[in-house]
Amino acid sequence: MPPSKQAILIARELLAGGVDVLGERFELRRGGLAATRSEILALAAGVEAVIIDPTDAVDEELLVAAGPQLLVVANNAVGYDNVDLEACRRHGVLVTNTPDVLTNATAELALALTLAAARGLGNAEGELRDGLWTGWTPGAHLGSELSGATFGVVGLGRIGRRYAELVRPLAGELLHASTSLKPETESELGITRVELDELLTRSDFVSLHAPATRQTRHLIDARALSLMKPSAVLINTARGALVDSAALAQALADGLIGGAGLDVYETEPSVPDALLKAPNCVLLPHVGSATATARHAMARLAAENVVAVLEGSDPVTPVI
Ligand code: GLV
Repeated sequence: MPPSKQAILIARELLAGGVDVLGERFELRRGGLAATRSEILALAAGVEAVIIDPTDAVDEELLVAAGPQLLVVANNAVGYDNVDLEACRRHGVLVTNTPDVLTNATAELALALTLAAARGLGNAEGELRDGLWTGWTPGAHLGSELSGATFGVVGLGRIGRRYAELVRPLAGELLHASTSLKPETESELGITRVELDELLTRSDFVSLHAPATRQTRHLIDARALSLMKPSAVLINTARGALVDSAALAQALADGLIGGAGLDVYETEPSVPDALLKAPNCVLLPHVGSATATARHAMARLAAENVVAVLEGSDPVTPVI
């Protein structure tokens, strides 16, 4: 009898770039986009590797369901707040993510949201589609300009840095609030590190690029929002948990800030009603990394991480 193939669970979906890397060598178990949690748990039993989306939790329950032969969890995302790293450590399971390959896509989407929120593009297009456009009107849809504005980047990692690069030609001033010092990036980009409160007070556009951790949960709460300029725009392409969405909806309704552009939410895929109704709020369905280039490269990198570990090598982009 030929030796049995090592099994890989693709909890939901893996694009072709990744499936090609896995080839015929492994037994592939696919949950599919509609997989329920209990189906994923059942499919996990006995696999050596799990490839999973940021929508699914990797926790004690999944690790136990998989069993002690599990070697690696490859998260098909750069953020890994869906993964219980402590539990993975306890089970001796490696964790990988997909950095770099989605940096341009996500930073570009943050720029698109910045422009869309600054100019109220969602409302303007909605008005036209609803047949409400009555013609060129001097005082209608007055937005704000990016040129000469102060941009505040919260978290100057790969994506925050790329966003800063993209807005730099337009920016009057570039600020960042980050936990680590970045002297080289600061002098290269002419970006100044300040405390978060100062960034919030001074910026016309605040873009969030920090990971979701215990420390960053509701980093932008009612107090933080109260520090922002009444014309300021908040952009979040990082993780929903960074923003207290109820406080944000209230701040928008009260005109405490000028607008928001959001791609991520606290409990996806549900979007709070208050945000759906909030004025000057552009809402996207978590599409930050959704370019063909980025999403296929993410799939490829997730698969390469799995293959490396199953062949006994170090993972390409390890988290732990
Ligand atoms: C997507 O949200 C990611 O973290 O890659």
